[in-house]
Amino acid sequence: MTADKLNERICLGIESTADDFGVGVATFNGDILANVSNGYIPETGGIHPREAARHHAEVADKVLSEALTQAKIKPKDVSVVAFAQGPGLGPCLRTGATVARALAAYLEVPLVGVNHSVGHIEIGKLKTGAKDPLTLYASGGNTMVTAYTSGRYRVFGETLDIALGNCLDVFAREAGLKHRKGLPLGAAVEQLALKGKRLVPLPYVVKGMDLSLSGLLTAAVTALQKGMFSLEDVCYSLQENAFSMVTEVTERALAHTEKKEVLLTGGVAANKRLQTMLRVIAEEHDASFSVVPQSFATDNGAMIAWTGVLAYTHGLTVPVAESFVRLRWRVDKVDVLWVKQP
Ligand code: ATP
Ligand code: FE2
Repeated sequence: MTADKLNERICLGIESTADDFGVGVATFNGDILANVSNGYIPETGGIHPREAARHHAEVADKVLSEALTQAKIKPKDVSVVAFAQGPGLGPCLRTGATVARALAAYLEVPLVGVNHSVGHIEIGKLKTGAKDPLTLYASGGNTMVTAYTSGRYRVFGETLDIALGNCLDVFAREAGLKHRKGLPLGAAVEQLALKGKRLVPLPYVVKGMDLSLSGLLTAAVTALQKGMFSLEDVCYSLQENAFSMVTEVTERALAHTEKKEVLLTGGVAANKRLQTMLRVIAEEHDASFSVVPQSFATDNGAMIAWTGVLAYTHGLTVPVAESFVRLRWRVDKVDVLWVKQP
């Protein structure tokens, strides 16, 4: 097949690791033709895995056909089906995997299992043009600093307990903030933080290259409940402390790896204050700084479709019989054959 013909080929990617069911369509040369998502919003509290999975099963059909319409393609135009194989919530992952297996079997095309964390990194690289970045991947379930070396995305530092997005979400719920459509809880905290002025004393916990956020979360909730500080001031202080901690770890990894690019990806990447802090340290180390565009920051099918292209074109398909989901599939266990050692 000629290079032109190969580039015209299409991968359809399915994302279902947590609260979103997403379908993306990518060409082999990196054009994103569609990116459609439908999120499950819990009535109260955090994500209930089985309820989220039921939501995914209910919307799968609709999201799939919307993505095909948006991409202006027919099912038979799809050459590869990719799905997020892990890490994530078991029932949610299994729902997406079932849809992907059925689709691949029906279309008689290969199946590719994609690591969700690698997906966040690869879509960040595709959309910003970063080639070999030090990446801060901060989302609802993950907070880690990674960079490519010796065949894998290695983890240089990470949270020892809860993730940055989860910390903001739990605080927001404790503060009685509601999950409004189109506005993630982390974004609600960001808006309130803009009006905060006073720094509330809160824990700052960096241990070596890792960090801990659960003590900070508890202290922020307690500070609010005591009523001595305004919600705006606590949001502001929570952000300042949490973001400074991840920025410190990112800066140390940058000094160590001497990478020339810093990339921010994952749902929390949308936060302007976090972006500003990282831009400052990148500039101090003569590195460029880039942020994944908002529509590709939170979980999306496009990142799975694009990583599916990278994997498939490097021979990484998965037989249906071996396509079991991997709930705790760490990013540094994935061979990224498509990245060349710089
Ligand atoms: P993972 O990638 O670990 O599976 P996830 O499915 O929760 O986790 P994403 O969709 O990538 O991940 O990110 C969602 C998180 O991003 C939520 O915690 C949400 O509050 C947070 N978030 C979104 N917008 C903002 C913002 N403007 N400021 C801070 N956090 C934000
Ligand atoms: Fe994610």
